[in-house]
Amino acid sequence: MNHTRTATVPIEPQFLSRTSPRAFTGKAVTRTQLEQIVEAARWAPSASNLQPWHFAYALHGDAHWKAFSTIPNEFNRRWCLNAGALIVLLSNPEASAGKHAFDTGCAWGFMALQAQALGLATHAMAGIDTEAARRVLQLPDHWTVQALVAVGQRGDATTLPPDLAEREVPSPRKPLVEILTAGPWTA
Ligand SMILES: Cc1cc2nc3c(=O)[nH]c(=O)nc-3n(C[C@H](O)[C@H](O)[C@H](O)COP(=O)(O)O)c2cc1C
Repeated sequence: MNHTRTATVPIEPQFLSRTSPRAFTGKAVTRTQLEQIVEAARWAPSASNLQPWHFAYALHGDAHWKAFSTIPNEFNRRWCLNAGALIVLLSNPEASAGKHAFDTGCAWGFMALQAQALGLATHAMAGIDTEAARRVLQLPDHWTVQALVAVGQRGDATTLPPDLAEREVPSPRKPLVEILTAGPWTA
């Protein structure tokens, strides 16, 4: 696979230019920006409009930041602590008709695009210590931790350790024909 990001057929440029960097400047995201990002997530569609999601955040350097910095795993901690905010994405299976993860994934997509419209970058992480997240958030049992998202001002790749800097390239995608079928399964 090559590393170009071109669309097979025309689409809105925002889908191609959104990428998940690991280099962030460390500048804190403002509370207003944070609210704008989650506001976009709020308008995501969900099964029966049950909106089975919740977002818990810390802004870089605020009173919750140190506790939130224990949530990413060792690999992700190497870069994501330079983000401007960390957001834990939570979903509630009890408040959903079996689609809580699907719905919350859609909300994450909306967040990523709204952040980009604000000139910010996002990077989702599944590499987290879920038990640490539950402890930090004092989370009631019925909530599921889906992911941690780093948001912030994109930084220069040269600020990263060399092994991470060399991975700071736009990711490719499978060809459209490989993921699209007209009618029944043909593979
Ligand atoms: C649910 C989810 C979990 C991810 N977990 C991690 C992670 O733990 N660490 C990491 O560096 N990147 C993680 N990523 C980033 C993906 O590797 C990245 O989105 C993918 O390679 C596509 O690149 P792009 O977002 O720049 O288009 C995750 C992305 C998603 C959506």
